[in-house]
Amino acid sequence: MTAYLIDKIVIIGVGLIGGSLALALKQAASVRTVVGWDTDRENLELAVQLGVVDIAADSVEQAVADADVVVLAVPVRSMLAVAQNVIAHMKCGAVLSDTGSVKQTVVSELEPLAQAGGVNFIAGHPISGTERSGAGSAFAELYRGKRCILTPTINSNIEALTLIETMWQAAGSEVVRMDIVKHDRILAAISHLPHMIAYSLVNSVSSYDRYEENILDFSAGGFRDFTRIASSDPVMWRDIALNNRESLLEMITQFEQFLAELKQDIDSGDGEKLFEFFYRSKISRDALLAQGVKS
Ligand SMILES: NC(=O)c1ccc[n+]([C@@H]2O[C@H](COP(=O)([O-])OP(=O)(O)OC[C@H]3O[C@@H](n4cnc5c(N)ncnc54)[C@H](O)[C@@H]3O)[C@@H](O)[C@H]2O)c1
Repeated sequence: MTAYLIDKIVIIGVGLIGGSLALALKQAASVRTVVGWDTDRENLELAVQLGVVDIAADSVEQAVADADVVVLAVPVRSMLAVAQNVIAHMKCGAVLSDTGSVKQTVVSELEPLAQAGGVNFIAGHPISGTERSGAGSAFAELYRGKRCILTPTINSNIEALTLIETMWQAAGSEVVRMDIVKHDRILAAISHLPHMIAYSLVNSVSSYDRYEENILDFSAGGFRDFTRIASSDPVMWRDIALNNRESLLEMITQFEQFLAELKQDIDSGDGEKLFEFFYRSKISRDALLAQGVKS
Protein backbone atom coordinates (compact mmCIF):
# COMPACT_ATOMS: atom_id res chain seq x y z
CA MET A 1 0.00 0.00 0.00
CA THR A 2 1.29 3.51 -0.89
CA ALA A 3 2.30 5.65 2.06
CA TYR A 4 1.29 9.18 1.21
CA LEU A 5 3.14 12.18 2.55
CA ILE A 6 -0.23 13.85 3.18
CA ASP A 7 -3.49 12.00 3.48
CA LYS A 8 -5.86 14.91 2.94
CA ILE A 9 -4.92 18.39 1.77
CA VAL A 10 -7.34 21.27 1.30
CA ILE A 11 -6.37 23.99 -1.16
CA ILE A 12 -8.22 27.24 -0.56
CA GLY A 13 -8.04 29.37 -3.70
CA VAL A 14 -7.69 26.96 -6.62
CA GLY A 15 -5.95 29.35 -9.01
CA LEU A 16 -2.60 29.23 -10.74
CA ILE A 17 -0.60 28.71 -7.53
CA GLY A 18 -2.96 26.53 -5.46
CA GLY A 19 -4.04 24.52 -8.51
CA SER A 20 -0.47 23.90 -9.65
CA LEU A 21 0.50 22.71 -6.18
CA ALA A 22 -2.45 20.31 -6.21
CA LEU A 23 -1.46 18.94 -9.62
CA ALA A 24 2.23 18.61 -8.69
CA LEU A 25 1.44 16.71 -5.48
CA LYS A 26 -1.00 14.42 -7.27
CA GLN A 27 1.54 13.73 -10.00
CA ALA A 28 4.19 12.92 -7.36
CA ALA A 29 1.68 10.60 -5.58
CA SER A 30 2.31 12.59 -2.39
CA VAL A 31 -1.34 13.09 -1.44
CA ARG A 32 -4.28 10.71 -1.17
CA THR A 33 -7.03 13.33 -1.53
CA VAL A 34 -7.00 16.93 -2.69
CA VAL A 35 -10.06 18.95 -1.78
CA GLY A 36 -10.51 22.40 -3.28
CA TRP A 37 -12.41 25.47 -2.12
CA ASP A 38 -12.82 28.72 -3.97
CA THR A 39 -15.26 31.60 -3.67
CA ASP A 40 -15.51 31.59 -7.47
CA ARG A 41 -17.85 28.60 -7.93
CA GLU A 42 -17.27 28.43 -11.70
CA ASN A 43 -13.52 28.27 -11.18
CA LEU A 44 -13.95 25.51 -8.58
CA GLU A 45 -16.11 23.48 -10.95
CA LEU A 46 -13.50 23.92 -13.66
CA ALA A 47 -10.82 22.70 -11.21
CA VAL A 48 -12.77 19.46 -10.69
CA GLN A 49 -13.46 19.03 -14.42
CA LEU A 50 -9.75 19.46 -15.22
CA GLY A 51 -8.71 17.07 -12.44
CA VAL A 52 -6.82 19.82 -10.63
CA VAL A 53 -8.57 18.80 -7.39
CA ASP A 54 -10.33 15.51 -6.60
CA ILE A 55 -13.33 17.05 -4.86
CA ALA A 56 -14.90 20.48 -4.58
CA ALA A 57 -15.81 21.22 -0.98
CA ASP A 58 -19.46 21.97 -0.25
CA SER A 59 -18.40 24.04 2.68
CA VAL A 60 -14.91 25.15 3.63
CA GLU A 61 -15.61 24.52 7.33
CA GLN A 62 -16.52 20.88 6.67
CA ALA A 63 -13.61 20.37 4.26
CA VAL A 64 -10.89 21.46 6.68
CA ALA A 65 -12.27 19.56 9.70
CA ASP A 66 -10.32 16.35 9.01
CA ALA A 67 -7.56 17.81 6.80
CA ASP A 68 -3.90 17.17 7.61
CA VAL A 69 -2.73 20.21 5.67
CA VAL A 70 -4.61 23.33 4.55
CA VAL A 71 -2.93 25.68 2.07
CA LEU A 72 -4.20 29.22 1.56
CA ALA A 73 -3.53 30.35 -2.01
CA VAL A 74 -5.77 33.42 -2.04
CA PRO A 75 -4.74 37.10 -2.49
CA VAL A 76 -2.71 38.26 0.53
CA ARG A 77 -5.32 40.66 1.90
CA SER A 78 -7.90 37.84 1.96
CA MET A 79 -5.65 35.54 4.04
CA LEU A 80 -6.71 36.84 7.46
CA ALA A 81 -10.47 36.43 7.00
CA VAL A 82 -10.03 32.98 5.45
CA ALA A 83 -7.65 31.90 8.23
CA GLN A 84 -10.01 33.14 10.95
CA ASN A 85 -12.71 30.94 9.54
CA VAL A 86 -10.69 27.79 8.81
CA ILE A 87 -8.54 27.68 11.96
CA ALA A 88 -11.71 27.50 14.05
CA HIS A 89 -12.66 24.28 12.22
CA MET A 90 -9.28 22.56 11.76
CA LYS A 91 -8.26 19.62 13.92
CA CYS A 92 -5.72 20.19 16.67
CA GLY A 93 -2.13 19.69 15.42
CA ALA A 94 -3.02 20.02 11.72
CA VAL A 95 -0.82 22.22 9.53
CA LEU A 96 -1.83 25.50 7.93
CA SER A 97 0.38 27.04 5.26
CA ASP A 98 0.11 29.78 2.66
CA THR A 99 1.64 30.88 -0.65
CA GLY A 100 1.38 34.64 -0.22
CA SER A 101 3.88 36.89 -1.99
CA VAL A 102 4.35 39.08 1.13
CA LYS A 103 5.28 37.50 4.44
CA GLN A 104 5.48 40.04 7.31
CA THR A 105 1.80 40.94 7.38
CA VAL A 106 0.61 37.38 6.74
CA VAL A 107 2.79 35.89 9.49
CA SER A 108 1.96 38.58 12.04
CA GLU A 109 -1.75 38.11 11.41
CA LEU A 110 -1.96 34.32 11.02
CA GLU A 111 0.63 32.93 13.42
CA PRO A 112 -1.04 34.11 16.66
CA LEU A 113 -4.44 32.95 15.39
CA ALA A 114 -3.06 29.51 14.54
CA GLN A 115 -1.29 29.21 17.89
CA ALA A 116 -4.47 30.10 19.76
CA GLY A 117 -6.39 27.54 17.68
CA GLY A 118 -3.92 24.67 18.23
CA VAL A 119 -2.89 24.65 14.57
CA ASN A 120 0.73 24.72 13.27
CA PHE A 121 1.30 27.57 10.84
CA ILE A 122 4.21 27.55 8.37
CA ALA A 123 4.43 30.47 5.95
CA GLY A 124 5.63 29.86 2.41
CA HIS A 125 6.13 31.56 -0.94
CA PRO A 126 6.84 29.61 -4.13
CA ILE A 127 9.13 31.67 -6.37
CA SER A 128 7.46 30.75 -9.59
CA GLY A 129 4.43 31.90 -11.48
CA THR A 130 3.05 33.24 -14.70
CA GLU A 131 0.87 36.23 -15.56
CA ARG A 132 -2.17 33.94 -15.80
CA SER A 133 -4.84 33.25 -13.16
CA GLY A 134 -7.43 30.64 -12.25
CA ALA A 135 -7.62 26.84 -12.24
CA GLY A 136 -7.39 26.70 -16.04
CA SER A 137 -3.88 28.11 -15.92
CA ALA A 138 -2.55 25.59 -13.37
CA PHE A 139 0.05 23.03 -14.44
CA ALA A 140 1.98 20.35 -12.54
CA GLU A 141 5.44 21.47 -13.67
CA LEU A 142 5.17 25.07 -12.42
CA TYR A 143 7.42 24.47 -9.40
CA ARG A 144 9.91 22.13 -11.01
CA GLY A 145 13.48 23.39 -10.55
CA LYS A 146 12.25 26.60 -8.90
CA ARG A 147 12.77 27.84 -5.36
CA CYS A 148 10.20 27.95 -2.62
CA ILE A 149 10.91 30.21 0.36
CA LEU A 150 9.64 29.23 3.81
CA THR A 151 9.81 31.84 6.58
CA PRO A 152 9.60 29.92 9.86
CA THR A 153 9.72 31.78 13.18
CA ILE A 154 10.89 30.74 16.65
CA ASN A 155 7.31 29.57 17.24
CA SER A 156 7.25 27.19 14.26
CA ASN A 157 6.70 23.53 14.98
CA ILE A 158 9.66 21.59 13.56
CA GLU A 159 7.58 18.61 12.38
CA ALA A 160 5.17 20.90 10.59
CA LEU A 161 8.09 22.76 9.02
CA THR A 162 9.63 19.50 7.83
CA LEU A 163 6.29 18.40 6.37
CA ILE A 164 5.79 21.63 4.39
CA GLU A 165 9.41 21.53 3.27
CA THR A 166 8.99 17.95 2.03
CA MET A 167 5.69 18.89 0.36
CA TRP A 168 7.36 21.61 -1.74
CA GLN A 169 10.27 19.30 -2.56
CA ALA A 170 7.75 16.71 -3.76
CA ALA A 171 6.26 19.44 -5.98
CA GLY A 172 9.74 19.85 -7.53
CA SER A 173 11.05 22.90 -5.66
CA GLU A 174 14.28 23.65 -3.92
CA VAL A 175 13.27 24.88 -0.47
CA VAL A 176 15.05 27.84 1.11
CA ARG A 177 14.42 29.07 4.66
CA MET A 178 14.56 32.84 5.05
CA ASP A 179 14.03 35.58 7.60
CA ILE A 180 10.64 37.28 7.09
CA VAL A 181 11.89 40.87 6.82
CA LYS A 182 14.65 39.81 4.43
CA HIS A 183 12.05 37.99 2.29
CA ASP A 184 9.89 41.08 1.89
CA ARG A 185 12.85 43.32 1.06
CA ILE A 186 14.31 40.94 -1.50
CA LEU A 187 10.95 40.32 -3.16
CA ALA A 188 10.21 44.06 -3.24
CA ALA A 189 13.41 44.48 -5.26
CA ILE A 190 13.34 41.49 -7.57
CA SER A 191 9.61 40.99 -8.14
CA HIS A 192 7.35 43.72 -6.78
CA LEU A 193 9.25 46.71 -8.24
CA PRO A 194 9.43 45.16 -11.74
CA HIS A 195 5.66 44.61 -11.67
CA MET A 196 5.05 48.24 -10.64
CA ILE A 197 7.29 49.42 -13.48
CA ALA A 198 5.61 47.14 -16.04
CA TYR A 199 2.14 48.38 -15.04
CA SER A 200 3.35 52.01 -15.12
CA LEU A 201 5.01 51.53 -18.49
CA VAL A 202 1.86 50.13 -20.11
CA ASN A 203 -0.25 52.96 -18.64
CA SER A 204 2.30 55.53 -19.73
CA VAL A 205 2.61 54.25 -23.31
CA SER A 206 -1.08 53.54 -23.82
CA SER A 207 -2.06 57.03 -22.67
CA TYR A 208 0.27 58.70 -25.19
CA ASP A 209 -2.27 60.07 -27.64
CA ARG A 210 -0.50 62.78 -29.60
CA TYR A 211 -1.28 61.09 -32.94
CA GLU A 212 -4.71 59.69 -32.00
CA GLU A 213 -3.44 56.23 -32.87
CA ASN A 214 -3.53 53.17 -30.67
CA ILE A 215 0.23 53.08 -30.52
CA LEU A 216 0.23 49.65 -28.88
CA ASP A 217 -0.58 48.37 -32.38
CA PHE A 218 2.96 49.35 -33.30
CA SER A 219 4.62 47.49 -30.45
CA ALA A 220 7.33 44.97 -31.25
CA GLY A 221 8.76 42.03 -29.31
CA GLY A 222 10.65 44.14 -26.77
CA PHE A 223 7.54 45.89 -25.48
CA ARG A 224 5.68 42.59 -25.30
CA ASP A 225 8.53 40.88 -23.39
CA PHE A 226 8.99 43.76 -20.99
CA THR A 227 5.30 44.12 -20.16
CA ARG A 228 4.19 40.46 -20.00
CA ILE A 229 3.83 40.70 -16.22
CA ALA A 230 1.45 43.67 -16.52
CA SER A 231 -1.19 41.09 -17.53
CA SER A 232 -1.09 39.71 -13.97
CA ASP A 233 -4.17 39.82 -11.76
CA PRO A 234 -4.85 43.38 -10.46
CA VAL A 235 -6.36 42.14 -7.17
CA MET A 236 -3.22 40.17 -6.40
CA TRP A 237 -0.96 43.15 -7.16
CA ARG A 238 -3.10 45.67 -5.29
CA ASP A 239 -2.76 43.44 -2.22
CA ILE A 240 0.99 42.94 -2.63
CA ALA A 241 1.60 46.70 -3.07
CA LEU A 242 -0.41 47.54 0.04
CA ASN A 243 1.07 44.75 2.18
CA ASN A 244 4.70 45.34 1.23
CA ARG A 245 4.34 49.12 1.34
CA GLU A 246 7.55 50.09 3.14
CA SER A 247 9.98 47.91 1.18
CA LEU A 248 8.26 48.70 -2.09
CA LEU A 249 8.36 52.47 -1.50
CA GLU A 250 12.09 52.18 -0.74
CA MET A 251 12.64 50.39 -4.05
CA ILE A 252 10.48 52.86 -6.02
CA THR A 253 12.54 55.73 -4.57
CA GLN A 254 15.75 53.99 -5.63
CA PHE A 255 14.31 53.40 -9.10
CA GLU A 256 13.32 57.09 -9.38
CA GLN A 257 16.93 58.04 -8.65
CA PHE A 258 18.23 55.88 -11.51
CA LEU A 259 15.55 57.19 -13.86
CA ALA A 260 16.42 60.76 -12.85
CA GLU A 261 20.10 60.06 -13.59
CA LEU A 262 19.16 58.71 -17.01
CA LYS A 263 16.90 61.69 -17.73
CA GLN A 264 19.63 64.12 -16.80
CA ASP A 265 22.23 62.38 -18.99
CA ILE A 266 19.82 62.37 -21.97
CA ASP A 267 18.95 66.01 -21.37
CA SER A 268 22.58 67.09 -21.17
CA GLY A 269 23.57 64.91 -24.14
CA ASP A 270 26.27 63.15 -22.12
CA GLY A 271 27.02 60.13 -24.33
CA GLU A 272 29.83 58.86 -22.14
CA LYS A 273 27.63 58.73 -19.08
CA LEU A 274 24.79 57.14 -21.02
CA PHE A 275 27.12 54.48 -22.39
CA GLU A 276 28.41 53.78 -18.86
CA PHE A 277 24.80 53.57 -17.54
CA PHE A 278 23.73 51.05 -20.21
CA TYR A 279 27.01 49.11 -20.02
CA ARG A 280 26.76 48.69 -16.22
CA SER A 281 23.22 47.43 -16.62
CA LYS A 282 24.08 45.02 -19.44
CA ILE A 283 26.98 43.51 -17.46
CA SER A 284 24.69 42.94 -14.42
CA ARG A 285 21.94 41.35 -16.50
CA ASP A 286 24.33 39.12 -18.49
CA ALA A 287 25.95 37.96 -15.23
CA LEU A 288 22.50 37.15 -13.81
CA LEU A 289 21.65 35.03 -16.84
CA ALA A 290 25.05 33.30 -16.72
CA GLN A 291 24.30 32.24 -13.13
CA GLY A 292 21.16 30.54 -14.42
CA VAL A 293 18.27 32.34 -12.70
CA LYS A 294 15.79 29.97 -11.07
CA SER A 295 12.61 31.84 -11.98
N1 LIG B 1 0.86 34.37 -9.64
C1 LIG B 1 2.08 34.34 -9.19
O1 LIG B 1 3.04 34.53 -9.95
C2 LIG B 1 2.34 34.06 -7.72
C3 LIG B 1 3.58 33.52 -7.35
C4 LIG B 1 3.81 33.20 -6.00
C5 LIG B 1 2.83 33.46 -5.05
N2 LIG B 1 1.63 34.00 -5.44
C6 LIG B 1 0.62 34.22 -4.39
O2 LIG B 1 -0.25 33.10 -4.38
C7 LIG B 1 -1.60 33.52 -4.07
C8 LIG B 1 -2.52 33.06 -5.19
O3 LIG B 1 -2.11 33.63 -6.41
P1 LIG B 1 -2.59 33.04 -7.83
O4 LIG B 1 -1.65 33.58 -8.83
O5 LIG B 1 -2.83 31.59 -7.73
O6 LIG B 1 -3.97 33.79 -8.01
P2 LIG B 1 -5.27 33.26 -8.82
O7 LIG B 1 -6.09 34.50 -9.05
O8 LIG B 1 -4.88 32.43 -9.97
O9 LIG B 1 -5.99 32.35 -7.74
C9 LIG B 1 -6.53 32.83 -6.55
C10 LIG B 1 -7.85 32.13 -6.32
O10 LIG B 1 -8.33 32.47 -5.02
C11 LIG B 1 -9.74 32.61 -5.09
N3 LIG B 1 -10.16 33.40 -3.94
C12 LIG B 1 -10.04 34.74 -3.77
N4 LIG B 1 -10.49 35.08 -2.53
C13 LIG B 1 -10.88 33.92 -1.94
C14 LIG B 1 -11.43 33.62 -0.67
N5 LIG B 1 -11.66 34.56 0.23
N6 LIG B 1 -11.73 32.32 -0.38
C15 LIG B 1 -11.51 31.33 -1.31
N7 LIG B 1 -11.00 31.57 -2.53
C16 LIG B 1 -10.69 32.86 -2.84
C17 LIG B 1 -9.99 33.25 -6.43
O11 LIG B 1 -11.31 33.03 -6.88
C18 LIG B 1 -8.94 32.55 -7.31
O12 LIG B 1 -9.47 31.41 -7.95
C19 LIG B 1 -1.52 35.03 -3.86
O13 LIG B 1 -1.39 35.28 -2.48
C20 LIG B 1 -0.26 35.45 -4.56
O14 LIG B 1 0.31 36.59 -3.96
C21 LIG B 1 1.37 34.28 -6.75
